[in-house]
Parts: sequence; structure tokens; C-alpha cells
Amino acid sequence: MSVGKEMPRVIAISSGKGGVGKTFFSIHLAAYAATKGHRVLLLDADLGLANVDVMLGVSAKGSVLEMVRGEKSLPNLIVPTKAGFDVLPGGSGLYELTALDAGQQQVMMDEMRHVSGNYDLVLIDVAAGIGDNVLYFVSASESAVVILTPEPTSLTDAYALIKVLSRQRGVNRFMVVVNQADDFDAQVTFRRLLSVSDRYLDVHLDYVGHLPYSPDVRKSIQNQSLLQDQDSPKTRQDLDVVLQSILSRPRDLNRNGGLQFFWEHSLNEGLQMQDKQAGQGG
Ligand SMILES: Nc1ncnc2c1ncn2[C@@H]1O[C@H](COP(=O)(O)OP(=O)(O)OP(=O)(O)O)[C@@H](O)[C@H]1O
Ligand SMILES: [Mg+2]
Repeated sequence: MSVGKEMPRVIAISSGKGGVGKTFFSIHLAAYAATKGHRVLLLDADLGLANVDVMLGVSAKGSVLEMVRGEKSLPNLIVPTKAGFDVLPGGSGLYELTALDAGQQQVMMDEMRHVSGNYDLVLIDVAAGIGDNVLYFVSASESAVVILTPEPTSLTDAYALIKVLSRQRGVNRFMVVVNQADDFDAQVTFRRLLSVSDRYLDVHLDYVGHLPYSPDVRKSIQNQSLLQDQDSPKTRQDLDVVLQSILSRPRDLNRNGGLQFFWEHSLNEGLQMQDKQAGQGG
């Protein structure tokens, strides 16, 4: 099955608090979708430590900065993986996109437009928190996944992220995954998030599932490998349920046109940021 006739579906994987499992979910969602016949590009828009390139053992072949200078083209920065999907690694500097000027962003958009026909699903592993580039990538995506754990700080940070995205960026639909929790704790956690969100925000939260804590996850990350069915059948099965549930959610083409919106949005925002900077006297 292949989604999207024209524009790839763009899903951002985000979280308020760091270290909750964004990168783990991103790479497994990418690999899972690839096995289902999707042509997947995973963008690493985080400047963290244990990120996509480390987890997959791939490294950047150049940077977005070299690309906007015309020294490298985007297809040369994209790295194929053994798991059947492509990656734009974190070391490529994608997370710095909001710092590029409008002209540089335009070059990036043009390059992206050239490769977008090669994919029907684009996943963005964004940084934790509510930084400019997080808001930028999430609001430019067709759908947003928010990951949290039952920890109180993770819950309040997830709420803060949803609040800023909805009030400042007009994002009002979120898929929610509770990680490192059994079914009961996950339901309780989601209901807490839902009750405070319903009370103060105009948002729709869609619970897509949970993944229990499992040493298998740590082991697979340590081995820089994907979680294998034969090594950890139960965890793998639980994970697949969540991944399938994310993929089977209907597309949200009303919100924007997916990737096309992403690029136009990027450009507009670049111009707005420049205006703002000019207004602030540099
Ligand atoms: N279900 C789980 N069971 C056990 N450990 C887990 C689980 N999910 C994630 N972890 C552990 O949590 C750590 C953080 O995961 P990951 O790097 O995917 O989080 P992240 O949200 O991308 O972090 P960052 O915000 O730093 O980018 C991993 O090292 C992994 O071992
Ligand atoms: Mg990460």
C-alpha cells in the first residue's frame, strides 16, 4: 500500500521533555513503513547526542550549508540505510534550517522539491522542547506525533509543547504515544494530558498507543540495530501495534498540502524572521 498520490505525507515526531524515545520511534516507524512498501525519508532535525545517525550507524556526507552554497546537492547528502529507507542525518545541519536566510532556504526548498517525488512518507525527528526549529518543523508537517512518558515532568512538558504549537502556530491535532508505560499507566497519563488540554486549549488529541519499558529497547540501541522480532517478540509486537496505528490514521490534507506546504511555509517563515530581525535592528 502506498499513501499520497502527489505530495509525501510529512509526520513530525516531537516531545516536550527529551530522552523519551523520539529517535527510537522515528527509526522504527521509518523501517516499519518501508516494509509496508512506503518510500520513506527520515529527516534528523535534532542536534542531540544519541540520534538517528548514531542509532543507525550512518554518518553525514556533507551539510545543508554546503548544499545552499551549491557545493553539494541534496541527493548526495541523503544516505540509504539497510532497513530500506533513506536518511538525511543530523550532522547535515538540517536543524539549522531556521537560521538560514531566505535565499538559502529557497535553495533548500528547490533541492527538496527535486527529491520529494522519490518519497511518499517523510518523517522528521525533531529536537525536544519548544525551540524555534521545533515549532517550525512541527507546524510545517502534515501531522504531529507527541511522545511522552508517565513522568510528571514529561507530562507537563508535553502539555507546554502542545500549548505553544496550538496557540502560536495553529497546530491543533496531535497523535499521542505514551512510552515506557504499561497499558494502565499509559491510559492514566493520556487522560491527564487530555483533561488539562481540553480544559485550556482548543486541540484534538488522538491516543495512538503505548510501549512498555523494555530492556530490549536499550539493547537494540546499544547495538545500533533495529529491534528484531526473534530477539524480543513481545516488545516488537507492542511496537508494531503503535506504528501501524500511526500509519493507518487518515491523512490530514486540510491542514496543509504536506511537503509543498512545508517548503512554502519555510520560505515565508524565513522572510518573517528576517523582517523581525531587521525590525530589531539586526
Ligand atoms: N520503551 C522503552 N523501554 C526502555 N528504554 C527505552 C524505551 N524507549 C526509549 N528508551 C530508552 O530511552 C533512551 C532515549 O531514547 P531516544 O534517544 O529515542 O529518545 P529521544 O526522545 O530521541 O531523546 P532526545 O530528546 O535526547 O533526542 C534510549 O537510550 C532508550 O534506551
Ligand atoms: Mg533523539
